[in-house]
Amino acid sequence: MIVKQTEFIKSATKPSHYPEGSLPEIAFAGRSNVGKSSLVNVLVNRKNLVRTSSTPGRTQLINFFQVNDDFMLVDLPGYGYAKVPLAVKKEWRPMMETYLSKRRNLRGVVLILDIRRTPTEEDQQMLAWLRAFSVPPIIVITKCDKVSKNERAKQSSVIMEKLQLKKEDLNYFSALSREGKDAVWARIDALLAP
Ligand code: GTP
Ligand code: MG
Repeated sequence: MIVKQTEFIKSATKPSHYPEGSLPEIAFAGRSNVGKSSLVNVLVNRKNLVRTSSTPGRTQLINFFQVNDDFMLVDLPGYGYAKVPLAVKKEWRPMMETYLSKRRNLRGVVLILDIRRTPTEEDQQMLAWLRAFSVPPIIVITKCDKVSKNERAKQSSVIMEKLQLKKEDLNYFSALSREGKDAVWARIDALLAP
């Protein structure tokens, strides 16, 4: 996709606040600090469409951005940040489950993982929801510039094992080198194709 324009539309916590209309949606999910905003900014060629330096986990909102007249890019609240107040953490589960199970416009979810970390229970939960609700996942393994080729292979095995994934499911990415940008777009384009 050639991105000509990306525009913030609105934030939501519940279905009555989701944008109206029938544009297909691709959502982005992952642990706090995993590199979600950095990935989105590289994809849409913006330095700071989504803030990369704000205090993680403070705003727990679903943010909708329209890309061209093509689709809605949906930034889901990050999870797993230790300092988030308990009340906010409790809201995460129903908010996510509702969006993932009820949103008819949703075509797929980009699930972002850190190449250096073992997937957590929340990562497993996210993937289990996607499978249960038949939402196609795009697995993006980011921060690949931080590890050697050897370590990449080793960590890939850990991730595949933990999340029951195959090698061809994994998309390697780096916001620094921009490795994987075209491959991630190709996966998104495939899900948006009618
Ligand atoms: P929150 O929204 O705060 O939960 O974080 P996030 O998942 O949006 O992560 P963000 O993009 O803000 O990145 C977190 C930190 O990781 C920042 O310091 C980024 O510069 C760094 N970072 C993100 N992606 C990469 C990458 O591919 N390579 C390297 N080396 N650093 C990265
Ligand atoms: Mg972010």
